[in-house]
Amino acid sequence: MSEKKCVLVSGGAGYIGSHVTVELLSAGYEVVVADNFSNCDRTNYEGVCAITGQRPPLEEIDCCDAKAVEGLFSRHKIDAAIHFAAFKAVGESVEEPLLYYRNNLTSFINILQAFANRGGGNVLFSSSATVYGEPDETPVTEQSPRKPATSPYGNTKQICEDILRDTVSACAGLRGIALRYFNPIGAHPSALIGELPRGIPNNLVPFITQTAAGVREVLSIFGNDYPTPDGTCLRDYIDVVDLARAHTCAVTRMFEGRMREDYEIFNVGTGRPLSVLELVRAFEKVNGLKLNYRFAPRRAGDVTAVWADPSLANRELGWKATRSVEETLSSAWAWEKHIRGI
Ligand code: UFG
Repeated sequence: MSEKKCVLVSGGAGYIGSHVTVELLSAGYEVVVADNFSNCDRTNYEGVCAITGQRPPLEEIDCCDAKAVEGLFSRHKIDAAIHFAAFKAVGESVEEPLLYYRNNLTSFINILQAFANRGGGNVLFSSSATVYGEPDETPVTEQSPRKPATSPYGNTKQICEDILRDTVSACAGLRGIALRYFNPIGAHPSALIGELPRGIPNNLVPFITQTAAGVREVLSIFGNDYPTPDGTCLRDYIDVVDLARAHTCAVTRMFEGRMREDYEIFNVGTGRPLSVLELVRAFEKVNGLKLNYRFAPRRAGDVTAVWADPSLANRELGWKATRSVEETLSSAWAWEKHIRGI
């Protein structure tokens, strides 16, 4: 029997990283979790262990520390890395650009360097639909133009995609995939892992669940005068477990030598646009509660509408989003209740 492949998940104790770790372990891969716990605690790591009945090695390192990354690669035989270890708050990135450029670029470069030092490997980069900016046409395909980033955070996603492309082309044994996520929401159906935002949530769904839990008084819906059917923004909300499965499919594609190019890009979305108001109403309906919300002015930097054409990922990765928005919003509420002890 062939040896199990080992996947490094940097940022593996975070929201998406923990869901990906569960899917990789369930698919039979070995996983090494690396995290410096700068933006999360151990809840999700312990949740992963409870769900899978396994305790993947946990490397408490900062991926910005090149020596520490090199040490990790010498302790484990890493066949692929999925890189999540990055900051992700758009507003904070505007205030602290150097923090974002230093952290998000350095950590990724260190991981690529460790593979390059070994003559190659497989790298999956966690990119974002933010690279499309305000698209001229929707849905967006991977061929849709990238727009100039409107925040340092968004710029780090574009720069890291380019770093991966260029490094793959210079290093014969290296392969790379960038997955462009749309709006990841929800939690594992076990309610043992999920999103744990620190302070006031920036994103819509954690704000909704915290409002429902009484932690926030009222949800502000940013703008109801957009040129959309109900005046609120349109997004492509992708269930985090569906999103996690896309990573397993992409890693398997790399290991099985099924890539068409050494660097590939896939949209990971549902292909189904939903407005903020539709999402709020779906949350109320599926969970049988009323949410306190009000309309507020537009939020700076928000695009009107962006959703994915996921057909390339459907075809090439053999992956498709399967969970309904109702299932997803009920998992988000179950997770909020779990962590609040409601
Ligand atoms: N929104 C509200 N009230 C809130 C929070 C959000 O009305 O309290 C609205 C926003 O205005 C937007 C929608 O809900 O219309 C979604 O907002 P999120 O902050 O949840 O998500 P974004 O679409 O702004 O951004 C997300 C990720 C980014 C990523 C981007 C890519 O948070 O990291 O998708 O499109 F870059």
